[in-house]
Amino acid sequence: MKANIAVLPGDGIGPEVVAQGLRCLRAVAKAYGHEFALTELPFGGAAIDLSGNPLPEGTLKACLEADAVLLGAIGGPQWSAPEAQVRPEQGLLALRRALGVYANLRPVKVHPALLAASTLKPEVLQGVDLVFVRELTGGIYFGEKRRDPRSATDVCTYTVEEVERIVRVAARLAQQRRGKLVSIDKSNVLETSRLWREVTTRVMRAEFPKVSLEHMLVDSAAMHLIRRPRDFDVLVTENMFGDILTDEASMLAGSLGLLPSASLGEGTRGLYEPIHGSAPDIAGQGIANPCGTILSAALLLRHSLGLSAEAAALERAVSEAIEHNARTPDIAASRDRALSTERVGDAVLERLRAA
Ligand code: IPM
Ligand code: MG
Repeated sequence: MKANIAVLPGDGIGPEVVAQGLRCLRAVAKAYGHEFALTELPFGGAAIDLSGNPLPEGTLKACLEADAVLLGAIGGPQWSAPEAQVRPEQGLLALRRALGVYANLRPVKVHPALLAASTLKPEVLQGVDLVFVRELTGGIYFGEKRRDPRSATDVCTYTVEEVERIVRVAARLAQQRRGKLVSIDKSNVLETSRLWREVTTRVMRAEFPKVSLEHMLVDSAAMHLIRRPRDFDVLVTENMFGDILTDEASMLAGSLGLLPSASLGEGTRGLYEPIHGSAPDIAGQGIANPCGTILSAALLLRHSLGLSAEAAALERAVSEAIEHNARTPDIAASRDRALSTERVGDAVLERLRAA
């Protein structure tokens, strides 16, 4: 098949991990006879430096016309001064909004070979396999922001429709998995959460009576996630809770650098990015973990291009590479056995060819 993929390397370690993601996509195209047009575009801080705009018009247009978008990471200290008027993050939020990708899927699966890489006990982690469905284009991220000399305000709004559609995505996913949905809110305090709980209960009863639904307060969910992570199947939550809890959940897998994400809307077009940030502290050293990005590329193949065999082959290649100790320092068995970003990319490509 022919596909048009917009590629946004971004800032910090973004270009380093995206380079490995691109090698994998090219290898998949070659092995399976596809033609992927991969177009790299300026985005984030890099685009601010070029044009003053984190999401230049040309980049936005290319993303809107693409079948899928692969993104590295954005942000860095040079664009983060409190008084800065333009920020890389504004570009990311504007892009998510413009693409209409309201459902952010963040799967967390513990690789048996990495049980020791986590700070948590292996017996707690064994068999963990869950997916977060994070609402991505609403809530406090997108509400009105005000600032005066003595105070600051961030408004959090959710509409009934926004909750309905994200709950449906999560419930459909739960149907294909173990049939268990946990909805996370703060309904003992927040009005938006009371709406969230009400709408979720109604949609689930009316449309998904066979999927079990449990409501959980976000503070309690943060605790249960590390106390008994195996019990979770699909978790659905609002934008900011999802942001925070998925960083926490990444430690179940062993490293923030391992987790991919797929952001989806109504059609098949999607935005794919690792959940980690630009990690300015390790940028340029060639030690960033490319797995989150490579696995995001696999999600792109599956969800936007419908290439599930190719996606599975790439996921298997990553898994085998990890098993055979092709690991960056964040998950290496010992420091002297750690490989560079590129060597891990090499190992994944070797396994992919052998598949
Ligand atoms: C993420 C990131 C972003 C978010 C930042 C970079 C704006 O933390 O994708 O999880 O908060 O959504
Ligand atoms: Mg985050």
